[in-house]
Amino acid sequence: MKPPSQESTQAGKKPVLELKDISKAFGQMNAVERVSLEVWPGEFVSLLGPSGCGKTTTLRMIAGFIAPTEGRIILGGNDITNVPAYRRDVGLLFQSYALFPHMTVRGNVGFGPKMRGEKSGAVAEKVRWALSLVKLEGFEDRRPNELSGGQQQRVAIARVLASGASMLLLDEAFSNLDAKLRGRMQEEVRELQLRLGIATVLVTHDQEEALAMSDRIVIMNGGKVEQIGTPKQVYSSPESLFVADFMGRCNRIEGQLTHDGAKGWFLDCGPAGMIRFEAPPHPEARPGEHCRVFMRPEHLTLSQRTGDHGQGLRGEVERLVYLGSRSVAYVILDGGIPFQVHLPNTPGSKDEFPINGVVAVVPQPGAVTLLPD
Ligand SMILES: Nc1ncnc2c1ncn2[C@@H]1O[C@H](COP(=O)(O)OP(=O)(O)OP(=O)(O)O)[C@@H](O)[C@H]1O
Ligand SMILES: [Mg+2]
Repeated sequence: MKPPSQESTQAGKKPVLELKDISKAFGQMNAVERVSLEVWPGEFVSLLGPSGCGKTTTLRMIAGFIAPTEGRIILGGNDITNVPAYRRDVGLLFQSYALFPHMTVRGNVGFGPKMRGEKSGAVAEKVRWALSLVKLEGFEDRRPNELSGGQQQRVAIARVLASGASMLLLDEAFSNLDAKLRGRMQEEVRELQLRLGIATVLVTHDQEEALAMSDRIVIMNGGKVEQIGTPKQVYSSPESLFVADFMGRCNRIEGQLTHDGAKGWFLDCGPAGMIRFEAPPHPEARPGEHCRVFMRPEHLTLSQRTGDHGQGLRGEVERLVYLGSRSVAYVILDGGIPFQVHLPNTPGSKDEFPINGVVAVVPQPGAVTLLPD
């Protein structure tokens, strides 16, 4: 199941969750400001941003642990803004999965329905169902300390499922696992989430995690939403400098647009030279206009030819770092701007760029993206 671009899901479907302009102030400090978001059935949405940008506060408002100062929260079509946490059917998983250590897997998974006073037969049936979904049948009598980290996480998810939650909320759920296990758990949870079709909101400050797992990413900064889009949209078409920088290494340069009837559009970057555009950089482009652009390191190539007009930007290789699948060339452009270029290491590739050698940095077609002001 692949939910979505927003347009395709809107046809005939209702969002599972709607945040309508929610804000949260702690005293004078606005932790979250007018955040709006719709989460569609089966969708995996990540809230991504630097520390302190309001991700956890937003998630806690969805879960009902804190009340918004302003705005509405709609779950399954019902306004739950004033419904207490224990009566919302959203399942929140924190960084530590907070399984009850003294209880068995059975006790942990059955906790929700049991507390709601369901009969023991019904509780047992829910436990069996939830454990089969996370493929942990046969683990009923183990305690959390007899399980691997990944298994504990699956028990925690089973507990959410058994409690009847219509959404899964994850706060930095993978951040205290070692790198290998983290990658495996991300894959497992995503696979499980797709199989169950349960709408999920993940809070993370890890770009790669958000890119790898999400249908859409909400980039937050200082309590506000900077951009919402698919992983590809936020990575390749950032709508602000903040998003461009936050989503990955980006080389930035500015200059003056020029247009030459025969050769097309260029950005004159002064001492570093010219960047040629395949097409007008934007619909209202005017010669003489000042522009800021960015380029991802993996969208650039290096050549030993020093560029004249249209052949890229001139610079000197300051450092080359070998990273296995690729090398990173640190280039100082003429005029002093630092650039990074990723060079894929193929079986035949040679070390062809000597330190202090003069090079041209040439953007691949479509690599140059205009930065908004
Ligand atoms: N109960 C509280 N009282 C006062 N201020 C708070 C409270 N909870 C959070 N804040 C503040 O609100 C802001 C947002 O906090 P939040 O926990 O949402 O950040 P975050 O994006 O989850 O960050 P991190 O990635 O570090 O977990 C921070 O400046 C934080 O200090
Ligand atoms: Mg947090």
